[in-house]
Amino acid sequence: MNPPVRRLADWDAARLAGLADTHGTPLYVQDLDRVRENYARMAAAFPEGRVMYAAKANTAKTVLGTLSDAGAGIECASAGEVERALAAGCLPERVQYTAVNPPEADLDYAVSIADDHPELTITAGAEDTIDRLAERGFSGRLCLRVNPGVGAGHHEKVSTGANAKFGVPIERAPDLLDKADERFDVVGIHAHAGSGISGEDLAAHRELVSRMGELARRTDLDLEFVDVGGGFGVPYREGEEPLDLQAVARATREALGEVEATLAVEPGRYLVADAGVLLTRVNTVKPAGEELVVGVDAGMTTLARPAIYGAHHGIRSLAEGERETVEATVTGPICESGDVFGEYDLPAPERGDLLAVGNAGAYGYEMASQYNSRPRPATVVVDGENSGVDRRRETLADVTRLEREVTWS
Ligand code: LLP
Repeated sequence: MNPPVRRLADWDAARLAGLADTHGTPLYVQDLDRVRENYARMAAAFPEGRVMYAAKANTAKTVLGTLSDAGAGIECASAGEVERALAAGCLPERVQYTAVNPPEADLDYAVSIADDHPELTITAGAEDTIDRLAERGFSGRLCLRVNPGVGAGHHEKVSTGANAKFGVPIERAPDLLDKADERFDVVGIHAHAGSGISGEDLAAHRELVSRMGELARRTDLDLEFVDVGGGFGVPYREGEEPLDLQAVARATREALGEVEATLAVEPGRYLVADAGVLLTRVNTVKPAGEELVVGVDAGMTTLARPAIYGAHHGIRSLAEGERETVEATVTGPICESGDVFGEYDLPAPERGDLLAVGNAGAYGYEMASQYNSRPRPATVVVDGENSGVDRRRETLADVTRLEREVTWS
């Protein structure tokens, strides 16, 4: 049984309450079985393809290890993500580092890893990056990221395909591929439309794939893969339909057309979002005029998506017993008026109630910060009957850990 979506109602309330009691709140809970199910669905939709997990969605070590064991490659956006992928046991031949305006230290690191593990692939999205790799003596596996001129996604801030920051213009790609071929082992081409693609955006994604297919046919190089990026959306609101992944996969293959190379996809959110919840406790219930304001111990520093993108995350009260349903504005502890999850119909909240925030497994912990000098929460993973801490809760000592007595000079 591998349902295409796991809703908040499907989580075992007693178990979540037990984890919150044991580990405190706010607490990220990630279910590895659900991660496996999501991966299995993706792998089944692209049976002859290559699934590269976009680590940026969730870098918990057990998540990386689980996906790697299941057969996924890992797409990394930084030296830190490569370091984490390797530390989690991912094989270097399945690790791809996507360099976006890479700082010197990232390139130094990636090239040094490639020296030891020539199977590592580095994706370059600018001529400068290609030159900088050559200057470092890199001659290994190179993938070229192109800007396909068509973007998509749940918010303008996550649409990448037509944003000139990413990739080289697709018209320049054939020339650059030939030039790169003189210095590197050119293994692939890559493009990513954006994140959270569903509904009408799927047409834009197909257009991207079709342009990538054309490019693959235009070049004389013997490419190993054509990577059409990630972006597979998941439903965040009640009643939203999940993607028909089989249909998306079919349309993707059709749009790509005849190519020798393997089709690669890079899902992040799809594999981990509904495998995670954020548990938070109510500490304040305050009538304010017409409104009922509910204060909880998680905020925009714990889950940044509502504040950054106006994103909606479902909330389920785990409080027991019959209560009247009321409309409540759920807010966090950060001193910013944007620190609001949103308005929800909830069983009349009381201090001490536990709330579960849904779809928190993707871009949740990853985007957490210490703003307002708040320690970041813990991540607990569950796997069948077992559970354990993957990332411990930060303490106040962690918050001040980097400070030094300044030695003036
Ligand atoms: N590949 C590349 C090159 C990417 O830049 C991304 C996401 C992905 C794959 C994975 O996209 P996904 O399948 O997860 O949609 N913080 C935002 C999402 C930013 C995504 C950035 N790139 C959010 O919380 O919605």
